[in-house]
Amino acid sequence: MEVPDVTTGSDLLDLSPVMPVVVLDDAEDAVPVAEALLAGGIRVIELTLRTPVAVEAIRRVAAKVPDIVVGAGTVTSPEQAAEAAEAGAAFLVTPGCTDRVLDGAFATGLPFLPGASTVSEAMRLGERGLTALKFFPAEPSGGVGYLRSIAGPLPGLRFCPTGGITVESAPRYLALSTVGCVGGSWLTPKDALARKDFAHIETLAREAAALRPGA
Ligand code: 3PG
Repeated sequence: MEVPDVTTGSDLLDLSPVMPVVVLDDAEDAVPVAEALLAGGIRVIELTLRTPVAVEAIRRVAAKVPDIVVGAGTVTSPEQAAEAAEAGAAFLVTPGCTDRVLDGAFATGLPFLPGASTVSEAMRLGERGLTALKFFPAEPSGGVGYLRSIAGPLPGLRFCPTGGITVESAPRYLALSTVGCVGGSWLTPKDALARKDFAHIETLAREAAALRPGA
């Protein structure tokens, strides 16, 4: 499989219809989870920096599963951005954005998806040249209706809505021209990880990959 070329945040939105948001408690799970997602047809994985093993998990996936694009999620400081980059992350995702985090992410030179949930936040990020944003938390912030309303006033911005999205609600987001992909943790449920049921994760990945045939 050809490794996709990802040089901008917008490229990230085109890799797969779903960006799996993954929280791992055991670094040993990182490679089998990435392989299961890939086997199901998902070409990207966001490993969140929410657990002590996260950086090691990124390091392992970057080294051992070259066909999946691995990024660091929940980046909330410049130090985390630098640490993730050093571990081999190919991109960064933030839940929201401060100037400090933005500068730290820019310093890594990596493509990234900054989080925004208001029009002003999205405009500020647009001013800094960022045209692909994570709309977070999508459902509590107004969901599909909100994104539809801001498409007119904010042309040129693309989104990865994340937060509260399910395999059932994802198609309504993916139908919007401003949505490249949706983010979600449903592909790697906690109970499946606890059972080391990677076959189930592959099944969920296959279902997610089919949300946009040919993606
Ligand atoms: C995230 O950090 O992006 C969210 O926790 C993912 O949201 P979800 O668990 O509702 O999919």
